[in-house]
Amino acid sequence: MSRGLSAHINPSILNADFNDLENEINKIAMVSDLLHLDIMDNKFVPNQTFTFERASEIIALSSIGVDAHLMIENPDELAPKYAQAGCISVTFHFEAAAAVPALIANIKSNGAKVGIAIKPKTSFAEIEKYLSDIDMLLIMTVEPGFGGQSFMADQMEKVSTARQSLTDKGLHKTLLQVDGGISEETISIAAKAGADCFVAGSAVYRSEDPAQMVKRLRSLANLELTKG
Ligand code: DX5
Ligand code: ZN
Repeated sequence: MSRGLSAHINPSILNADFNDLENEINKIAMVSDLLHLDIMDNKFVPNQTFTFERASEIIALSSIGVDAHLMIENPDELAPKYAQAGCISVTFHFEAAAAVPALIANIKSNGAKVGIAIKPKTSFAEIEKYLSDIDMLLIMTVEPGFGGQSFMADQMEKVSTARQSLTDKGLHKTLLQVDGGISEETISIAAKAGADCFVAGSAVYRSEDPAQMVKRLRSLANLELTKG
């Protein structure tokens, strides 16, 4: 029996041409769910991407909705600003947040969906109590910081446990996102474990036809998700 899940594909522009983002986003807009925007501050992770000001410009110019992934210190202060800037969804790292329930409420009251992200070494048990309050759980499948890393298959046990917990709690609308190393070779593994929302950076933007790659990834994931 099918699990009733269908794949969401959110391309990450981390490996796109930063000097031509409008065009890069347009390449995938028609076939993607949301644009995954990686925000790094060179403190929470050893890499830096966009300032809040530049991110706001990207959110405004994007022809599709934005899924912001904040790899930053002090999300308690900054994450609500990304909601105000018009993101559809704002994901903060559990490891960086000071007051998780207040932050969830603050993002929601500023009009965005809320995601919690956990790094590979953070256990699912630490965030399980927040599941019914959020719209998405992001289980990292690489150490956050850089695109183009190898998929960590050892995170699939965590994905399966999270899917089971969502099912047991009747949280069928809560997305289970994976991010890092998702490609034609790995997306089926993640879908089989129970992920239904997939971030793909280098697989999409290093391919000759990014839109075609998004479609291919979606059909590979849906093949698993409809198997049940
Ligand atoms: C890593 C970022 C990812 C990254 C994914 O810290 O959160 O979103 O862009 O890139 P790939 O798909 O190349 O692993
Ligand atoms: Zn990301």
